[in-house]
Amino acid sequence: MAPSLSEPFSDSSVLIDFVINQGNGVKGLSEMGLKALPKQYIQPLEERMCMTNVQAQESIPIIDMSNPNDPEVEKSICEAASKWGFFQIVNHDVPVEVLENVKDATYKFFGLAAEVKNKYSKEHSLSNNVRFGTSFTPQAEKALEWKDYLSLFYVSEEEAFALWPSVCREQVLDYTRKSEVVIKQLLKVLMKGLNVNEIDETKESLLMGSMRTNLNYYPKCPNPELTVGVGRHSDVSTLTILLQDEIGGLFVRGNDGDNWIHVPPIKGSLVINVGDALQIMSNGKYKSVEHRVVANGSNNRISVPIFVNPRPSDMIGPLPELIENGEKPIYKQVLYSDYVKHFFRKAHDGKKTVAFAEL
Ligand SMILES: *[C@@H]1O[C@H](CO)[C@@H](O)[C@H](O)[C@H]1NC(C)=O
Repeated sequence: MAPSLSEPFSDSSVLIDFVINQGNGVKGLSEMGLKALPKQYIQPLEERMCMTNVQAQESIPIIDMSNPNDPEVEKSICEAASKWGFFQIVNHDVPVEVLENVKDATYKFFGLAAEVKNKYSKEHSLSNNVRFGTSFTPQAEKALEWKDYLSLFYVSEEEAFALWPSVCREQVLDYTRKSEVVIKQLLKVLMKGLNVNEIDETKESLLMGSMRTNLNYYPKCPNPELTVGVGRHSDVSTLTILLQDEIGGLFVRGNDGDNWIHVPPIKGSLVINVGDALQIMSNGKYKSVEHRVVANGSNNRISVPIFVNPRPSDMIGPLPELIENGEKPIYKQVLYSDYVKHFFRKAHDGKKTVAFAEL
């Protein structure tokens, strides 16, 4: 018997089985043509995005990267990272075709049959470095998030060839490789802003020793106002490079602390944000800022973030150069993999993860 369209998932085990165990994801729910959002996705009032808290006049900085070493450009990058924690870059070195190709590849991956995508689920994936999933941490969440994803942790080209889905492998590798140039430019400028003028191999590895690329799919949602695509959180990365499509829905906490600012899609741009690891390493100078994604009632949306991270085995803390300069450390040294585990053990909870490293 087909489940009724009005309340097909009153039993949560039926929903979990359909969405998670069978690999249908929220995309599967969306495509059933549900008339109402299943109750498991209804967020408490305080977690829903209230459009009256949106500051429509404000915008995060948009920085032209044609001349990344122009002192004015350097200044705007460092100011954006300390004041907003978020900015968009235009005229950067990642070719538009590379961005278009990775977006197409994202649609191709999510267009595969559930049984095929499910080969990459937590249950079935041959490696922890390749993970198809839904929501954020379903086992720890009181309400689920309206998002499916494929997460690809880069180890080597050989591993990518052996384990990543072939429909998106080349496109993701190309996007990550081409973005490295921009990532290095940004990190060089940001380090210079801390008076750290030399990035040797050890420092480079600490700042960008590992990379994870996610393909995110936020399907069209019945009752988008009752749920979230991604709840309030800050990233655990050094930097995040985000490619978003033309739908919109990413909101960033404004620097007055109360309001939210929409990040408008700009064709060819990349959204850059500071993650907790850089906030900690910069001893609080650069800020990782809370952000969230709303669901959309009329469109599917995709985004492709690259999380630029320390290596799991790195100890992170305020950079020694800052302490040698007489700054008082506000964070302790923590093992990066412990920090990340702490983030993934709990549901999204705003900026609370960073307390793990506070002195
Ligand atoms: C949904 O997408 C459309 C098209 O981009 C946009 O105009 C609308 O504001 C979006 N709705 C929400 C709730 O973000």
